[in-house]
Amino acid sequence: MVPQPAVLLQNDSLLELAANGVSFQVDVSSGTPAVVYWGQDLGPATRTEDLTLLMQDGVPQSNVDDPEVPGIWRENARGFLGRPAVLGHRDSQDWSQLFTVTNVDATSTSLVVDSVDRAAGLSVSVSFEMTPSGVVLISQTLTNTGPGSFDLNELTTWLPLPDHAVETMDFTGRWLKERQPQRRPIQVGTWSREVREGRSSHDYTVVQLALSAEADYQNGSVWSTGLLWSGNTRHQVERLASGQTSIGAGELLLPGEAVLPPGATYTAPTVAATFSATGIDGMTDKLYRWLRARPEHPSSPRPLTLNVWEAVYFDHDLVKLGELADVAGEIGVERFVLDDGWFLGRRNDFAGLGDWVVDAAVWPDGLGPLIDRVHAAGMQFGLWFEGEMVNVDSDLYRTHPEWIFQAGGRIPPESRHQQVLDLGHPGAYAHVLGQVDAILTEYDVSYIKWDHNRVLTEAAHLGGAGVRRQTDAVYRLFDELKRRHPGLEIESCSSGGGRVDLGMAAHADRFWTSDCNDALERQYIQRYTQFAIPPEMLGSHIGPTHSHTTGRVHSLAFRAITALFGHAGIEWDVTETTDAERLALREWASYYKRKRGLLHSGRVVRVAQPDDASFVHGVVAHDCSEALFAYVQLTPAGGSHPARFLLPGLDPDAHYRIRLVEPAGTAGTTQAQTPPWTTADIEASGLALALVGLRPPILYPESAILIELERL
Ligand code: DGJ
Repeated sequence: MVPQPAVLLQNDSLLELAANGVSFQVDVSSGTPAVVYWGQDLGPATRTEDLTLLMQDGVPQSNVDDPEVPGIWRENARGFLGRPAVLGHRDSQDWSQLFTVTNVDATSTSLVVDSVDRAAGLSVSVSFEMTPSGVVLISQTLTNTGPGSFDLNELTTWLPLPDHAVETMDFTGRWLKERQPQRRPIQVGTWSREVREGRSSHDYTVVQLALSAEADYQNGSVWSTGLLWSGNTRHQVERLASGQTSIGAGELLLPGEAVLPPGATYTAPTVAATFSATGIDGMTDKLYRWLRARPEHPSSPRPLTLNVWEAVYFDHDLVKLGELADVAGEIGVERFVLDDGWFLGRRNDFAGLGDWVVDAAVWPDGLGPLIDRVHAAGMQFGLWFEGEMVNVDSDLYRTHPEWIFQAGGRIPPESRHQQVLDLGHPGAYAHVLGQVDAILTEYDVSYIKWDHNRVLTEAAHLGGAGVRRQTDAVYRLFDELKRRHPGLEIESCSSGGGRVDLGMAAHADRFWTSDCNDALERQYIQRYTQFAIPPEMLGSHIGPTHSHTTGRVHSLAFRAITALFGHAGIEWDVTETTDAERLALREWASYYKRKRGLLHSGRVVRVAQPDDASFVHGVVAHDCSEALFAYVQLTPAGGSHPARFLLPGLDPDAHYRIRLVEPAGTAGTTQAQTPPWTTADIEASGLALALVGLRPPILYPESAILIELERL
């Protein structure tokens, strides 16, 4: 996919960035960069004059006589009455700005526009970078060029939406039920999703969508914005009484968090803006293409992982963990992760956080004997940390109680019996970096699971708000650890999936998607998290038969198919498995290894079923040569025949061999006779599969089957 060059259109002031079917046009003729078009590529036949005439509005009564184009900075001075992009002041002055363009720099894939308001003593700059995938990366800076400090409250990236963007979708959620979608009509007013917990959060809107009325997984137009940031955020959709509609994303700055002394610059988190003319799946495809093309994206086969948390919790014992390692090795696990509980005083969650040294009380000979056993079983070793946290019952807190976040001389309320270590203190940062580095230097640890188990409250550094500083510090810490230990991978965990975002995706290699290993819940959590985050970055484990977080009991077959569609793993005391379960796990492990190339590189396809009883999702190779779909029976079907399911996204002209596979045991069924395709391979064209589909067998609820498709 070669990006098309930015086209400098006839009148020198309308610039177009285009790639992968997306066109993004910015007009600077009115003295401010205005995004005049963001949508499907208009093709070479579209001339500037046509576009300008098509775009021009009339002027309603009772309005500014000659309304100006608001531009990306949406200044009130232009007669614009919505929320400006820049909010702030200098001693109650300079709060209203009028920026004029001073410089435009265009390359074949990017456009940078600098503007200044000399009277207000501010300059701003916006950069639009068109990636080959069609995702536009937008970065903004604001510099205080005046005398005295400028108190910046907000610098938001706003993009206009066309009138046929009539609905919006964002995400809510909680611990064990992350990222559940909510779709609603766009009405006059502002719909704002704010995060104030100092991490992206379980209910985080990884991307906010605006949709045309007919948009579903494969159809309709979708515009989305997502912030490359893991701290406090604000995603908004605004419709003015005039009908003007926009989508905006930016960092939520706490009061005083961005006070800029003369000469200082604030850099807003980058926004990834994506347009798709082929529904939500098209948006996902573009986001994945962009993410997968980054040099930092994990590119080696994602190792099958065993995490010991739900097997042993805090009960660390070399004998037990050694057995676990042996069985994991037999099954074909490739990475063994020792979770919480190995460090000083950590016998439960009341003590120990902050003291990142091996606890000789449970590990008298250090971690070496376990690591040797893990290596002998052919696996890499991974270790848990929660470096941004501290228990009051720790040597760290006893020595440096002043290193926690606190305001007003109060100690913040505890959460999971812990406080937040303020990495803004150079000593605190050096302590964590030093102790983690020492463990990684002493032992052969190739993987860190980095947890973050509480929200930030009163996150004050020496009294001033410190979330921005903390977020930057954790990025810096991860990058420094990786620099010192080449090849190190980091998993971002936060009470499950509380820090899954596009910002962290640049520093971590895997996300712990949720603490809920219940396969039914995981179907929903993974489906929606995968709107923006590719499966190879999402930890997805086979949990215990009896779910520890919901009490549900699921077959191994269902748990195994669910865990396959991510960076797969196991989180279960496999020493207690039966011979049959172990055999099934071995077969599933080798199936995962055979299929991960496809699962972690292809296009994700989700099918909108006519009822809520089932999910259908799959991954199709980019060249359409193969695909793997899952049919998931969530609840019992309403009719005796469960609704047929379509398999879109294949090559319509090619023929495919269709095969039902069950890599870890069969799903239960209740039927006198099964549809023929479930007992013998059949063939059909990609078009027939997309338009006619297949009749599912009558499965028990909470079970699933896989459908392999191979082009003939
Ligand atoms: C929360 C994580 O999400 C779990 O997987 C586990 O690591 C615990 N913390 C350990 O305290």
